Amino acid sequence: MKVLVTGILSQKAAANLKQHTTSVDIYESDDALDPDAIVARLKGKDALVCLLGDKVNAQLLDKCPDLKLVANVAVGYDNINVGDATERGVLITNTPGVLDNATADLAFGLLLSAARRISESDRFVRDGKWQGWKRDLMLGQELHGKTLGIVGLGRIGKAFAKRAQAFGLKIIYTKRSADQSEEAELKKLFDAEKVELDDLCERSDFISIHCPLTPLTKHLIGKKQFSKMRPNCVLVNTSRGAVIDEAALVEALSTNKIAAAGLDVFEKEPAVSPELLNLENVVMTPHIGSASRETREAMDELAIAGLISAFAKKCPQNAVNPDAWDKFAGRLS
Ligand code: GLV
Repeated sequence: MKVLVTGILSQKAAANLKQHTTSVDIYESDDALDPDAIVARLKGKDALVCLLGDKVNAQLLDKCPDLKLVANVAVGYDNINVGDATERGVLITNTPGVLDNATADLAFGLLLSAARRISESDRFVRDGKWQGWKRDLMLGQELHGKTLGIVGLGRIGKAFAKRAQAFGLKIIYTKRSADQSEEAELKKLFDAEKVELDDLCERSDFISIHCPLTPLTKHLIGKKQFSKMRPNCVLVNTSRGAVIDEAALVEALSTNKIAAAGLDVFEKEPAVSPELLNLENVVMTPHIGSASRETREAMDELAIAGLISAFAKKCPQNAVNPDAWDKFAGRLS
C-alpha cells in the first residue's frame, strides 16, 4: 500500500503508518499542497491522508485511478464530494469524536470573549486608552440565566451544552435527525428543548453553530434569521463559515441587529470579509477549533488507524461512506 500525506503527521501516527505500508510520501510542510501537486504525487498511490483545505472531487479522482481511500484529518468533510468517491469505490474516513472537547472549549471561549468583550478590552488596554476604573467601562452580558440556542446538538454541540450547563444557561436546540427517544435523552441530559430554527433565533440570547456544512445547511443563518434575532444576541460559529451568510452577518453586526459574534470559521477562509476586521463587536480566530496538541495527535492517530483497518479488510468505524465498502474491498488485490 502506498500513501500520500498532504501535511505534517504527529510522530506516533507517522510511525504506525510507516509500519503498515510499503511507501509513505509525507509533505512535511504547514503550507497547503496545490491541487496539481496532489494529483502528481498521488500517481500510483492507494491512499490519501489529507486536510480540510484539500479538495477531493470527480476531477481529482478521475486523474488518480489507483486511489482507493481518502482519510480526511478533520471531522467536517465538506471538502470531499462523497458521492463521487462512493461511485468510484473510494472509501472516505474522517475524525469524529476526538475533537469535541477542544472545539467546545474554543466555542465557549469565543462566547465568553464576545459577551464580556474580552478581546475588545484587551485592545483597549494595549492601545493605551485605559484611563482608570469607570462604572460603565466595557459593560457586557452575563451568561447565567440566559437562553442558549445550539444549532446542531451532535457530539460537539453536546460538549458545548455540558459547559453551558455549568454556566447556568437554559438550552434550546435544533437537530434535524433527533427522534423522540433522542429528544427525551437530550431533555434528561441537558434539560434541553428542541425547537424550530426560527423559534431558536427569536428566543436565544446566545447562539452557537455546531452543524456540519452540507447543501442543506449552506447559509442556514441568513438575512431572515438575523431579522428574528434579539439585539443582544451573540452568535458563535466554530463549524464551517458558509453555514452563515457572511454578508448578512456583516450587515447584522454593523447595524446592531445583533450584539456581537465569535467566529473561528469564515465563508471564504482564509479570506475574511474586510468589514469584519473593522468591527469591535467581533472576536475572530483562524479556524483553530481543534488546535490543541492532544487533539491534533488523536486526530492523526484516528485517521491512520482507520486507513490501516480498511486495507486490512475491516471497515473502519470512522468511514463516512460505508456504502462504498463492497466496491472498495473488491478493489483490494
Ligand atoms: C475542523 O474544522 C474539522 O472539521 O475537524
